[in-house]
Amino acid sequence: MSKDKPEIISDIYNYLKFYNEYKNYPVYANEVEHIDASFDFQETSAGKPDSIIAGEKQVYEKPVYEMKKANEDIVVEKPVSIYSPRKDFSHCDSLDKFYEEIKDCRKCSHLAETRNNLVFGYGNPAAEIVVVGEAPGAEGDKQGKPFVGRAGKLLTDILKAIEFDREDVFICNILKCRPPENRNPLPGEIMNCEPYLFKQLELIKPKMILALGTFAGQTLLKSKEPLGKLRGSFHEYNGIKLLVTYHPAALLRNPNWKKPTWEDVKLFRKEFDSMKK
Ligand code: URA
Repeated sequence: MSKDKPEIISDIYNYLKFYNEYKNYPVYANEVEHIDASFDFQETSAGKPDSIIAGEKQVYEKPVYEMKKANEDIVVEKPVSIYSPRKDFSHCDSLDKFYEEIKDCRKCSHLAETRNNLVFGYGNPAAEIVVVGEAPGAEGDKQGKPFVGRAGKLLTDILKAIEFDREDVFICNILKCRPPENRNPLPGEIMNCEPYLFKQLELIKPKMILALGTFAGQTLLKSKEPLGKLRGSFHEYNGIKLLVTYHPAALLRNPNWKKPTWEDVKLFRKEFDSMKK
């Protein structure tokens, strides 16, 4: 007897959940392309993001829109939408337009219900450096900005130590919405959200990317290698030099990783300087 669509989606959800729990195999869209699930955007009259001028620098500021209250009754264990047709973003030729396009995304409906803000990213829309983290934390979710908590302060210090100002770079995440209880992103959530990061990188066209932690490194490099193997040397993402290092939150838990991180970011700065010559 053939299965109907909800049953197939439920099977695939369980399959994704299994792999997430055992963390050994990310599942990507092309493995489940025959499944049709809708790309669900909600239109609202929410405000536009502002590109503001801060001194000489153009800064992509916190998007302004209605704060959604987290719904306590929500069941987070709902199936993620595991396949979304590739949406054409070619009409979005700026970060502002692209933000308008995705600001009400509900592809991961469970995250859309629990988030306060979709955290698009922050910084210079013409940055030479893009820093990619994992997903917004509690404070970032409240403020609509990436890396604003303790890990964010450490990231600011790390950037300062290699003479980059937080306002000069662009900071964003693999997931634009906060996973509840700061759990790891699920493979289906990454699959839903990664096209947004790829489009941001296409618009910003940075010279270099700094990927923070396993999820950022593995997603951008389409790799299953552990962080220990990914860090320490340069990779390429679409012709852009990419370095993976420890996530600042991991450094807060394990200060022994500060030294190798320092080595990584010094290497990053040296490469950046040599590209400028
Ligand atoms: N805040 C973010 O925006 N990203 C992270 O990865 C961690 C905290």
